[in-house]
Amino acid sequence: MPSINNLKFSNGLEIPSLGLGTYKEEKEDVLVDAVKAAIKSGYRHFDCAHIYFNEQHIGKAIRDTIAESNGALKREDFFITSKCWNTYHSREKVHLCLDQILQRLGLEYLDLYLIHWPMGFKEDAGDYPLGEDGKMIPSDIHYLDTYKAMEECVRNGKTKSIGVSNFNIKQLEDVLANGEIKPVCNQVEVNPLFQNAELIEFCQKKNIVVVAYAPLGAPDRAWLKTEDPVPLQHPIVLNLAKKHNKSPAQIILRWLLQRGLVVIPKSVNPTRIEENSKIFDFNLSSEEMTEFKNFRDQFRFYKFEVADKHQFYPFE
Ligand SMILES: NC(=O)c1ccc[n+]([C@@H]2O[C@H](COP(=O)([O-])OP(=O)(O)OC[C@H]3O[C@@H](n4cnc5c(N)ncnc54)[C@H](OP(=O)(O)O)[C@@H]3O)[C@@H](O)[C@H]2O)c1
Repeated sequence: MPSINNLKFSNGLEIPSLGLGTYKEEKEDVLVDAVKAAIKSGYRHFDCAHIYFNEQHIGKAIRDTIAESNGALKREDFFITSKCWNTYHSREKVHLCLDQILQRLGLEYLDLYLIHWPMGFKEDAGDYPLGEDGKMIPSDIHYLDTYKAMEECVRNGKTKSIGVSNFNIKQLEDVLANGEIKPVCNQVEVNPLFQNAELIEFCQKKNIVVVAYAPLGAPDRAWLKTEDPVPLQHPIVLNLAKKHNKSPAQIILRWLLQRGLVVIPKSVNPTRIEENSKIFDFNLSSEEMTEFKNFRDQFRFYKFEVADKHQFYPFE
């Protein structure tokens, strides 16, 4: 089985180019089985977040696997990402959020701590403080101040690297110009229907690794509408799948890898978890890569519209 390769961060550390997404599953038995199946299939990278309400189960599965491995697996073999939620953007809360994450995971440090979104929400009013207008109540905390606190988390050893998620080019430029520790990563949506080319080009020029979320178009999203496009069923993807004797998901993940991205498909199904790992044993030709340019109908699956009035809302 070809092994999962790593991409190098600007700080010299590395991230496995395939990780397991964990959003939208909170059941302990399902998650523990999924994480254990993923480890068996060679995954070492797990993408977590404070707001996914499931980190205790992921941590348990990883710790149990390490304990049961008789020394074959160690914490250092894993790459764990988590994210500071929008109601934790003040300095004190950035630290509190990380402490709570580590406690839930049962780990001493993260490999990567991200600012989940550039928008801060009102603190101490729950995770989704909604105003009477149906929109998230903002805090006045600037993401540059949040980022300064993130840097302290590297200095105190609770995370190896820091980065951002859902930041646009202007926001990244701000962080690059004002921060002391460079963000190693921007985690953003990328899939055939939302190719995000300009942002990816900017990040790659600045040596910021792009982690592609919703790589398969998040077919399990709660706000799915029957008329929404489905990347996994697109004729271009289906044709390539037939040609390479691979599944549609494998074709999409391979296309993302060949764009130099990290992919974090979510699955809780052991068969699909394994399927998604078998993407290192074939290549798409440059003509096949170019075929993806024919996806005209761009469609963002994660719009976070309840926060679209926020001064730091990143999308146009
Ligand atoms: N930073 C952010 O703001 C942000 C936002 C969204 C997501 N994320 C991260 O990115 C991860 C991935 O994104 P996502 O979960 O939204 O969507 P996704 O990975 O694009 O899609 C997940 C869905 O695809 C299904 N699936 C998985 N493998 C498949 C296969 N081989 N064939 C057919 N269907 C398959 C899964 O079903 P089964 O589980 O039943 O297999 C699930 O319904 C998240 O889990 C999370 O870790 C981050």
